[in-house]
Amino acid sequence: MVNKVKTCVFISGKGSNLFSIIKNSRNYYFPIKINLVISNKKNADGLKIAKKYSIPFKFFSSINQDKFEKQSLIELKKKKIKFLCLAGFMKILSKNFIENFGHKIINIHPSLLPRYKGSNTHQRVLKNKDKYSGCTVHFVTPKLDSGKIILQKKVSVSKNDTKESLKKKILKAEHITYSKAIIATFKQFLFEKKIYFNFSVFNTIRTVYRIFIYGQTIHFSKGSFFSFQRIRGSH
Ligand code: GAR
Repeated sequence: MVNKVKTCVFISGKGSNLFSIIKNSRNYYFPIKINLVISNKKNADGLKIAKKYSIPFKFFSSINQDKFEKQSLIELKKKKIKFLCLAGFMKILSKNFIENFGHKIINIHPSLLPRYKGSNTHQRVLKNKDKYSGCTVHFVTPKLDSGKIILQKKVSVSKNDTKESLKKKILKAEHITYSKAIIATFKQFLFEKKIYFNFSVFNTIRTVYRIFIYGQTIHFSKGSFFSFQRIRGSH
């Protein structure tokens, strides 16, 4: 059995990215398992998703951010969480929290960073009449939406797009890009030996293997551990 990295997802809302990560993480070869979901919003729909999939979840209010971070760190330690994904989590984590957890935190943002950091990304894209927007998965630093970029996906903006239609298109791209980025992150961690991750089965790969995730073909070969062709998105 592949040793999956114990992972927590921080959310604040709907949790559609959480849902797509949970789905993909159920595949044998996916590098992480979601062992905990933490929300800073009591009524976040994402908590219902965690409940449905029997994933332990917690709500900690972030009105007092210091308290939120302390409570979260205790829970992360308790559950031996080694990796953290922010998925629609609308708070900026402090330098102290990031250092305490050990920098293994990634986030998804609905724009092609470094363009449109912060909120209201779709409105700003439409106002500027951009031809493209998209999403970015990046490492988290205390500086808003500024950490090293892991993966981006471009989405074309049409003349008829509204804030809602653009949001929908980009969200669809996010559901695929986030899981691809998680795989890319662990490929990097493996090569840099940043964290212990027993994925020795891959060390023996000498030729092209094909596996199927929910009916989608994935190819990976020597020198390109995980070159995903397609992976499952969301609902
Ligand atoms: C997503 O579009 C995500 O990129 C964005 O919030 C949405 C959450 O959707 N995150 C940010 O804007 C963070 N700066 P979800 O709850 O359905 O995954």
